Amino acid sequence: MESIKLGLGGFGTVGSGLAKILDMNAERIEKRLGKRIEIKKVLVRDLNKKRAFDPGPGVSFTDDPHALVSDPDIDIVVELMGGLDTAKNLILDAFEQKKHVVTANKHLLAEHGLELFQAAIDNNVGLMFESSCAGGIPIVQTLKESLAGDEINKMLGIMNGTANYILSEMTTKGMDFETALAEAQDLGYAEADPSFDIEGFDTAHKLCVLIRMAYGVDYPLNEIPVQGITSVTPMDIQFAREFGYRIKLLAHVMDVEGKLEAGVHPALVPYTYLLARVGGNYNAVRIEGNAVGPVMLHGQGAGDLPTGSAVLADIMNLTRQMKGSCELPDNTGFDNKPIERATIL
Ligand code: NDP
Ligand code: HSE
Repeated sequence: MESIKLGLGGFGTVGSGLAKILDMNAERIEKRLGKRIEIKKVLVRDLNKKRAFDPGPGVSFTDDPHALVSDPDIDIVVELMGGLDTAKNLILDAFEQKKHVVTANKHLLAEHGLELFQAAIDNNVGLMFESSCAGGIPIVQTLKESLAGDEINKMLGIMNGTANYILSEMTTKGMDFETALAEAQDLGYAEADPSFDIEGFDTAHKLCVLIRMAYGVDYPLNEIPVQGITSVTPMDIQFAREFGYRIKLLAHVMDVEGKLEAGVHPALVPYTYLLARVGGNYNAVRIEGNAVGPVMLHGQGAGDLPTGSAVLADIMNLTRQMKGSCELPDNTGFDNKPIERATIL
């Protein structure tokens, strides 16, 4: 069977999450695509670091970004390193080599998205980024495809798993801020520099990317007022609880008479609202379209498998769109046998 070969930039939380899913769901992926997806090469910083997951004997490691993108066997470059300069150069280099790119890097897209999208267009290749916003939640695809015909009146939601984990643990277990942050880091939710999570900037990066998808405009990152959760005290949380509220780090954007208004800030959310009950590393975003009305998306916003799932969705999407690789097997990947139903008690 033909295979699509990946060059993976980064093998940390998300990179190894993707590798685990490719292994765990290989049969399903092959059935749906009629092709195998294989990691060919992995770019890391430290070649001597012990890896928690072994991607298999056919995978070679390199610390040279150009060696990754210039490998003629590689069809798709997947940027899962984070940061700005090396990641941006890797992507631009990949475009020059006419490779499609998938990235989870919302910081890069918020700062340099326009340049990167233009470079992708100029080179006639794809740039996909579902995993950059809200981890495993299919929000980019929802805005791009499912709600393509709606005017979006508002978006409001929790877009950072680390901050939500910290606030949830402080609220439900009385955990202190530092311990909760350390746990979120251990669980792979936090950015390499966690101040992006707790100061609200990561949420602003995602909001910036989503505004582009929802409204087709480039809302300047430095014009989004941002307040994080570092000044939220246990006493604030306690008082909020007593009055029937939860404190959540929210991002919002709304269309006010044709002008967009956006921001990131901690807010008191009445406990009767769904958003108040979003716990742990979960994110939730409420999108209000002028035709569809309100739509709520909820799921894990950070972590290896949820994020890897969104990365894989982009890879599969690109694979389907690649010239000469769109033929699906006759049954388009589904077994033509009756569905066995679970017993409903
Ligand atoms: P990690 O820090 O866990 O992993 C980063 C990987 O990239 C490591 O393997 C590291 O190599 C490699 N790397 C970093 N810089 C360089 C460089 N200059 N040259 C070569 N290799 C480099 O990050 P995550 O997996 O958590 O995040 C990756 C991206 O995904 C980021 O953009 C992040 O914002 C985004 N993201 C993360 C989510 C999450 O839940 N963690 C969710 C959604 C998006 P080495 O291992 O040798 O240090
Ligand atoms: N650090 C991010 C978060 C990762 O906690 O939400 C997902 O983008």
